[in-house]
Amino acid sequence: MGNIFEDEKLFSDRRKNIIFKDKRPLDHRYLPEKLVHRDMQIRQIAKYWVDVLDDVTPSNVTLYGKTGTGKTAASKFAREQLIEAANNANIFVKIEYIRCTDYTTEYQVIAELCNRLGRDVPNRGWTKAEVVNAFRQLFRTNAYGKKLHLIVILDEIDILLDKDGDGILYTLTRADNISVLSISNYLDFKNLINSRVKSSLNDKEIIFPPYGADQLSDILSERAALSFNDDVLEADVIPLCSAMAAKEEGDARYALDLLKNAGELAHDENCKKVVSDHVRRAKDRIEHNKITEIISTLPLQQQRVLEAILTLTKQKEEITSGKLYESYTEISKKDAVTYRRIFDFINELELLGIISTNTVSRGRGKGRTNIIKLQCDETLLETALYTI
Ligand SMILES: Nc1ncnc2c1ncn2[C@@H]1O[C@H](COP(=O)(O)OP(=O)(O)OP(=O)(O)O)[C@@H](O)[C@H]1O
Ligand SMILES: [Mg+2]
Repeated sequence: MGNIFEDEKLFSDRRKNIIFKDKRPLDHRYLPEKLVHRDMQIRQIAKYWVDVLDDVTPSNVTLYGKTGTGKTAASKFAREQLIEAANNANIFVKIEYIRCTDYTTEYQVIAELCNRLGRDVPNRGWTKAEVVNAFRQLFRTNAYGKKLHLIVILDEIDILLDKDGDGILYTLTRADNISVLSISNYLDFKNLINSRVKSSLNDKEIIFPPYGADQLSDILSERAALSFNDDVLEADVIPLCSAMAAKEEGDARYALDLLKNAGELAHDENCKKVVSDHVRRAKDRIEHNKITEIISTLPLQQQRVLEAILTLTKQKEEITSGKLYESYTEISKKDAVTYRRIFDFINELELLGIISTNTVSRGRGKGRTNIIKLQCDETLLETALYTI
C-alpha cells in the first residue's frame, strides 16, 4: 500500500472540491476581519482601553454573555486594534490573552505572563510568592526603558476562580500598570470573589446578548463567502442554520458548526449543492458527536447508571430512584456504589442534559418520589454506551 495521504481519491478530492474552497473560515478559531453586530461592544472596550494611549492604566473590564456570543472574538479584535494604535502612538503596551482552561491556577497564569514578558520562570517548583515577586519585579525594574503597560485578557475566568480562588485578581489588580479584561459566561461570577478583591477590581461591565436569527445569517453569509464555492449553497441553507442556532440561545459557534457539517455531508455524498436536508442531518450528527463524547468520558459507575436508565426506558417503566437503584445494582453486581451516591450521579447527568428529573407527590403519608426520564435519543445512547 502506498502512502494513504497520497491515495488517488483523497488527492483528487483535495484538488477539486466542489463544495468548499477553503474550510478555515468555518473553524471556531478563525478570527474574521470584521465582527458584524458587535460594533457597540467593541467600541465600549475601546472607550476604556484608549486611556492607555495617554499613558494611563485603563479600567478593568468584564465581558458577559452566553456561549457563542462573540466575546472571545471581540476581545481579540480589540486587542489587534489597540496593538496597531499603540505602535502608531509609540506607547509601550502588551496585551496578553490567557485562556483559563489552559492556565488554571494563579501560579500558572503569572508564570506564563512572566515568560511572555521575557522573564523565564519554571512552570512549577517555585513558590507562588516567588513567582509573584518575579512578576512584580518586571514592572519595577522597567527593563524596557519605557513605562510598561499590561492588559491581561482572562478568558473563561470562571474556571480559574472556581479552581484556584480569586488570588489571581488580587495580584493583578494590586499592580499599578495592569488592567484586566475578564470574560465570563455567568452574570453571577462575582460571587466567586470576595469583597476586598471586588473593590480593587471595580470593573466596567459589557454585555453580549445572544444573536437573533437575522444577525446569525449575516455572520454566516460573511464566512460562507470565504469558505464555499460560488452558488453551492441553496438559498434556504443559511436561514435554516441561523434559525436553528437562534433557538440554541443565539450561539454563533453552533451556527458555524451546522453550516460546516452540512457542507461536509454534501461533499461526502458527492452532491453539487448543499441543501436544507444536509443541515437537518448536520444537526443530528453534531448532537450525536456531542453525546458520544460526553458519555465516553463519564466514569464507569455513571455509565452503568445510564445503562440502567436505558434498560428501564426500553421496558417502558416509570423510573423512580428506587427502581433505578435496583436495576443499577443488578448491572454492577458486587462493586455497586451506595444509594446516596446515585443521587449525585443523577444530578450530574441532569446537568449534562442527558436526563431530566421530576419530583412528584404520591399523596398523603406516602412522601415524594423522583421520576427520571431520558432526554436523549435511545438508540443514540445505546450506540454510545456499547461501542466505547
Ligand atoms: N459578530 C460576529 N461576526 C463574525 N463572527 C462571529 C461573530 N460573533 C461570533 N463569531 C464567531 O462565532 C464563533 C464563536 O464566537 P466566540 O468564540 O467569540 O464566542 P464566545 O462568546 O467567546 O463563546 P464562549 O463563551 O463559548 O467562549 C467564532 O468562530 C467567532 O469568530
Ligand atoms: Mg470564548
